[in-house]
This record gives sequence, C-alpha cells and structure tokens, in this order.
Amino acid sequence: MNVMFVSLGCDKNLVDSERMIGMMSRAGYTLTNVEQEADVIVVNTCSFIGDAKEESVNTILEMAEYRREGRCKALIVTGCMAQRYREEIMQEIPEVDAVIGTSSYDEIVKTADTVLGGQRVQSFLDLNRLPALNQKRVVTTGGHYAHLKIAEGCDKHCTYCIIPKLRGSYRSVPMESLIAEATQLAQDGVKELILVAQETTLYGVDLYGKKSLHELLHKLCEIKGIRWIRVQYCYPEEIYEELIETIRDEKKICKYLDLPIQHASDRILKRMGRRTSRADLEEIISRLRKEIPEIALRTTLITGFPGETQEDHEELMAFVDETEFDRLGVFTYSQEEDTPAAEMPDQIPEEIKKERQAELMELQQEVSLDKNDRMVGKTVLAMVEGYLSDENVYVARTQADAPGVDGYLFINTGETLVSGDFVKVKITGALEYDLIGEIENECTE
Ligand code: F3S
Repeated sequence: MNVMFVSLGCDKNLVDSERMIGMMSRAGYTLTNVEQEADVIVVNTCSFIGDAKEESVNTILEMAEYRREGRCKALIVTGCMAQRYREEIMQEIPEVDAVIGTSSYDEIVKTADTVLGGQRVQSFLDLNRLPALNQKRVVTTGGHYAHLKIAEGCDKHCTYCIIPKLRGSYRSVPMESLIAEATQLAQDGVKELILVAQETTLYGVDLYGKKSLHELLHKLCEIKGIRWIRVQYCYPEEIYEELIETIRDEKKICKYLDLPIQHASDRILKRMGRRTSRADLEEIISRLRKEIPEIALRTTLITGFPGETQEDHEELMAFVDETEFDRLGVFTYSQEEDTPAAEMPDQIPEEIKKERQAELMELQQEVSLDKNDRMVGKTVLAMVEGYLSDENVYVARTQADAPGVDGYLFINTGETLVSGDFVKVKITGALEYDLIGEIENECTE
C-alpha cells in the first residue's frame, strides 16, 4: 500500500507529519510523492490565518479528485484545520474518509487501516495529551537539519490567535525523550537542530517547575554530530539570564534568536494581549545585543490589528527603523472567529493592512541591504543546503539564517560540495536579503 503526505502550515506541523510518515512506514506503507499512485492520501492542514485556511481547503479539494476518480481509497485530513472544522470537513467534502485531531496523530495507522476496511473515522483524543513520543520520524528536510519540537500547545492567549484552541495548553516534552530523539537524529546525519514550539522559552515550567531551556540546550550540545543548534519562537518577556548566558557561551548554539514582538505601540500591544510594552522590548533587545554582540535577531509583526491608527503604524515604523532587526517578517492581521480580536470594533480594511505591510517590508529591505553590505569582505562559516544547477551555484546558510524564512548565501566554486558540508566563505557581494561569496576553505572543526 502506498501513502502520500501533504504537509501544510508551520514547522511544528511538519514534525507531526514526519512522525506520522515514520509510523506509516513502520506499519508497512510505502511513501510516494505521486497522487495517482497513492492508496492513502493524508493532508496535514493549517488553520492559522485566512490564507492558510484557503490553501488547506484547496489542497483537500484537489486530493478529493484522486479519491473520487483514482486509485486512492482513503483520504485523511489531520492537523489544525481538522481540529477546528472536523464536522464541516466531513459533511461538506464527502470524499474525506477521516479527520484526526492535533493531539491524536499517533492514531494514523489505526485510522488508515479502519478506513481501508470501509469505515469513516473521526479521531479526537484529549486535546491536552501528548501523542506517543517514542516514534522514529522520517525527516523530510534533506537530512542535514531537523526540527526538534520541544513543547506542544500554548497558554499565552494573545487576542488574535486561535492556536490554543487548536493545540491545547502548554506541555513540554520530557527532556530525556528529546535527548533520545536528538541523538537518533544525529546518528541519522542531522547536523543542525532547530528547536521549535509555539513558545520555546517557557520549556520545562509545567514539567520541572522552572524554565529549563538552558539545561536542555546544554545537554543537546553534548550530542556528537550536532554542529548547530538554533532556537526559534521566544516570547520576549520570557527571556531569562541563564538562557542568554547559554546562547552566548555554548559554541554550538547559533547566535540567533527569533523573538516575535508583533507590534511596538503600547496601545496595540495591550489590545493584542501581549505582555510586553515598547520599553520592555527595547530593554530586552538591547540586553541581548549587549551580552551577545554578534547575535542576529529575527522578529515578526502584524499590520492592521483592530484599532491600529496611522499613528500606531508610524510608531511601529520608527521602532523598526531604530531597532534594525536582522530578519523581519510581516503579516497582515487575519480576523479569526472565536478569538477576542475578531469581536473588537475598528477592524481595518484589507487594503490598509496590505499598504502598511508593504511599507514595513520596504523599510526592512533598506535595513537588510545595509546590513548585508557591511558583511562584504568578512569570512563566515556556512552550511551547504544544495546546488542550483541552472545558475551553477551552491546555496548555503550562515548561523544568522534559519531555513525557509531567512536569507541564503550563494557560493561560486569549482569544488564539489554536498548538503550538510560546512565551509568558510568570504563574502564578496550583497543582495537585499541574500549574500554572495567564495570558499576560503572547507571546514572540519
Ligand atoms: Fe498552522 Fe497549526 Fe502551525 S494553525 S501555523 S499548522 S500550529
């Protein structure tokens, strides 16, 4: 029996897909990328904002055609959209044979078998359980890097966000289980671990009674074969001293932090239910930069939150201009039913949200180009990601770039490199978001 997976949404969801692929493979299913050859198709969906929901629905509808007319005998929808709209999906898309909730993905094999036996299934165990953890994953990111999901769920309840309703409350994964998983990944050839969760900084509070991310990081640094460890999704107000010291002192930890701030106007931050003021953000950012001068800071912002005035937007522009984030993503606010912000007055027209988003991105483009220009002439350590045969260049990343969201370093060389190689590269040119360089020497340290 062949199974095909389509994984949508964020890297946390991707980890769930990789676990499900592992379970299906062990149960004897063969993985395929060809719809026409699949007996079972699984769509792991996202339901975060309007665009993500649209993509999920379109993908389900596209796969429904193979269920109707092709070889496929089981169409299974998992992930956040299944969690949120299980009844609607089952009723309105009759080709869908099963829906599985976000905390129940370890039911995938049982569900596929039941569907192939002729039944429709809805599998929704307690939203606050952790699915079985001792399951080997099939990493789909090329083998040289992998995400390590250190916690599930979120207790922050920002007023715009639906995720706590889709993923339950915050549950850390026990440290020994993460060490075992990371050791296995290293043995399989993974060199970079990317720690993810809805929020990583609170890791351990529920299990060990205190913030324990720094302890986990120290232990992960001991794993042979792992060269880089990157921490994503840190709530600014939860950054703590031992964590800063650990990032500063441990050689394997990328001097990089993803700090989603969402806005900088106190009025909007308050309406968003965020626990930081502009002054807090300034203080945290300057502390991080003082203690780890080479740190690259990434953030994400939302434009057009209900009630955002032109003045709020200008304040955010000024903040971005002054702070000079190394990496920045901007989303437009999406009005999500069942969230407090959706009920707020003064919803902003789509056009204005987009204009504000474009203005911020334009500003960041200048900041980014300036920063990249300053890199020219420097030598950096980079990990090879792949090769662009059309352009005859290798694509690599530095410590300052996370895969998928940040920039790349393009290397011109006659040498043969493979994904996961580490090289020292002299920067010879700068683009708005990417760099160009030449190899100084291969690096084995
Ligand atoms: Fe989407 Fe669920 Fe991730 S809503 S962004 S797939 S946690």
